[in-house]
Amino acid sequence: MILLNPGPVNVSPRVTAALGRGDLCHREVEFATLLDSIRARLLAAFAPAGGFTAVVLTGSGTAALEAAVTSVLSARGRLVVVANGVYGERIAAMAGAARLPHTVVESPWTAPPDLDAVDRALAAPDVEAVAVVHHETTTGLRNPVAEVARMARSRGKLVLVDSISGLAGDPLDVDGADLVVGTANKCIQGLPGMAFVLVREAVMERLATHPRRSLYLSLATYAETKVPFTPAVQVAYALDEALAELLEEGVAARVRRYAAAAALLRAGFERRGLRFVLPPELRSNSITALGLPAGLGYRELHDGLKERGFVVYEGQGRLQRDIFRVANMGHLTTADFERFLVALDAVLGR
Ligand SMILES: Cc1ncc(COP(=O)(O)O)c(C=O)c1O
Repeated sequence: MILLNPGPVNVSPRVTAALGRGDLCHREVEFATLLDSIRARLLAAFAPAGGFTAVVLTGSGTAALEAAVTSVLSARGRLVVVANGVYGERIAAMAGAARLPHTVVESPWTAPPDLDAVDRALAAPDVEAVAVVHHETTTGLRNPVAEVARMARSRGKLVLVDSISGLAGDPLDVDGADLVVGTANKCIQGLPGMAFVLVREAVMERLATHPRRSLYLSLATYAETKVPFTPAVQVAYALDEALAELLEEGVAARVRRYAAAAALLRAGFERRGLRFVLPPELRSNSITALGLPAGLGYRELHDGLKERGFVVYEGQGRLQRDIFRVANMGHLTTADFERFLVALDAVLGR
């Protein structure tokens, strides 16, 4: 089955094979060595200029994101959340669940954030940090993280980036950020079950002084004790292998490969007269959101494609009825995308 949903993704045989490296106790030196390797490879891939540390934890991307959101504020702080999709809104929901003071700067789901409104929100004296989603998976919109980060840093605020669906698919300069959240099973091409936060080293010291709002998901706990709880050992093997593959391919080359795949698909969608949800300048390298063709429901489209070996993805939230999404993340080839366009023609009745 070719997965054209935005994670979990198809992985290489080499990554799958890593699951079988053997049984291992996480309190043994071999696990410490594995974790050191994953952390070093994450930093080599995404923070090559140094100055960051990597916290790796077991759970999906949301676990790592919730750890970051609930660790970033002092007892007196407020978080500004930039929201233009399901995932920005989810960060606000996390702050709400933890009863953290927060200000949400909302904009339409198909538009970039209102940077003036973000700047005004950042000016409040109790604001300590801003959270922004790098790649809004809801629509495939790439947010202007560098601009938000520049405004935040000029006011001395921390910058938390949800790059769960962005890292290794779209370029991100982590040097503008303080905390960057990622996951194993999207553009990194590992398996679901491990996620991570890249934290600026100096900021990690500050986080250690903040209240611990969760026993399981506290970044300070992970910084003190690298393996506080039982990790998904075999998924960690697979992540280590996926990171080795990523470094062999090169992050910039991976980003270019995804951009080329998206370009191939988009040219095909255009030729077929499908309606794009976003204008070209807002689109990421890894998801294309399209209007459902007239007279064709999502179920029919999905099931027809699945019969032919391809899984596409439904719209979310208020866009659920109108759109569908095609991701191009994972261990896939040009031939896979070309075959998908042929299958799409069959389902569209062309
Ligand atoms: C931008 C973004 N943030 C957070 C998440 C949540 O990640 P997970 O489903 O791995 O918990 C996703 C998942 O698609 C995402 O795309």
